[in-house]
Amino acid sequence: MTIHPSGRQFSAAPGQTLLQAALDAGVNLPFSCRAGHCGVCRGRVVEGDIRLDAFTPGLSDAQRADGHVLLCRTHAAADHIVIDVRETESALTPPKTIPCRVKSVEQRSESVAIVKLRLPMNENVFFLPGQFIDVLFDDGQTRSYSIANPPRQRGVVEFELHMRHRPGGRMTDPVFRAELTGKMLKIQAPLGSFFLREESDKPLVLLATGTGFAPIKAILQYMQETGVKRPATLYWGGRSPNDFYMRDLVEQWEAEHGNFRFVPVVSAPVSGSASSTPGQEWAGRIGHVHDVARQDFPDLSGHHVYACGSPAMVSSARRIFIDECGLDAADFFSDAFVPTGYDALTRPPALSSFP
Ligand code: FES
Repeated sequence: MTIHPSGRQFSAAPGQTLLQAALDAGVNLPFSCRAGHCGVCRGRVVEGDIRLDAFTPGLSDAQRADGHVLLCRTHAAADHIVIDVRETESALTPPKTIPCRVKSVEQRSESVAIVKLRLPMNENVFFLPGQFIDVLFDDGQTRSYSIANPPRQRGVVEFELHMRHRPGGRMTDPVFRAELTGKMLKIQAPLGSFFLREESDKPLVLLATGTGFAPIKAILQYMQETGVKRPATLYWGGRSPNDFYMRDLVEQWEAEHGNFRFVPVVSAPVSGSASSTPGQEWAGRIGHVHDVARQDFPDLSGHHVYACGSPAMVSSARRIFIDECGLDAADFFSDAFVPTGYDALTRPPALSSFP
């Protein structure tokens, strides 16, 4: 396999996707969901035959017809293939496998827990704000979680993760049964190409649904701690006000930082429901986060957009902002949370399934 224009070469083992083969060879390619949904790993076949999975919602028909592929859903079908793809900035730290201990688990809401992992003392890890880790299981399965704390110049020895309980979840069931504190885990970190582009001074529009807030938190705290004053507006979507599990913290940021605005968005407030605070009517914005953001920012040219959460939200935001709001496609950065068990033949869940 050859990457154009860098000329870097690597080999793919039988059954490996081109993305996995590249990452295993230490080639930094952009990726997020690894499931065909987000479109971040898109490249174009210049030479050679490939086999692309049929269902790739992150790829439009026009892109497919123009020879584009999603590398996380593409396999080699020839000995030599040339792919045109932009490599991720080489400043990314290569991921490594690290043992760690679950330091604490704090349940913040009915369905969200804050999990803190303690790394070995000699393992200061460097990462970029917005990246994620994989928890590795002995049978080869993995679970991905965004890092919610900001990086430090000397590296960090602790990771904060935000976990939404999925009944039957291999990771989250033990977390919510309070069985994980003190246990050892094996993780791979840091991962992903969703991170703050510090070289730009464009204003930021940040979208999060549910625990998609985690990497956005890392980005915003990093900006605050390093004195970045770019205007930033956060749209955080949930099914009910109770889903804003760190609302106090975000409102405190808004009070302390004049460049930051917070817009909580409830998708379907139900008065008196079990998921809303008794006696408290929702007086804020209602709808999908990307629709509310579009109302406020009909012209997104000259902005950077960071979107993290459900695949449906990410793909809708990408399409609407680029097609209707004048956002440059290169200025849209995303991390789609694809639940374990989704494969290329499974459609992403409806937006209402993921707050
Ligand atoms: S990483 Fe390939 S489509 Fe998301």
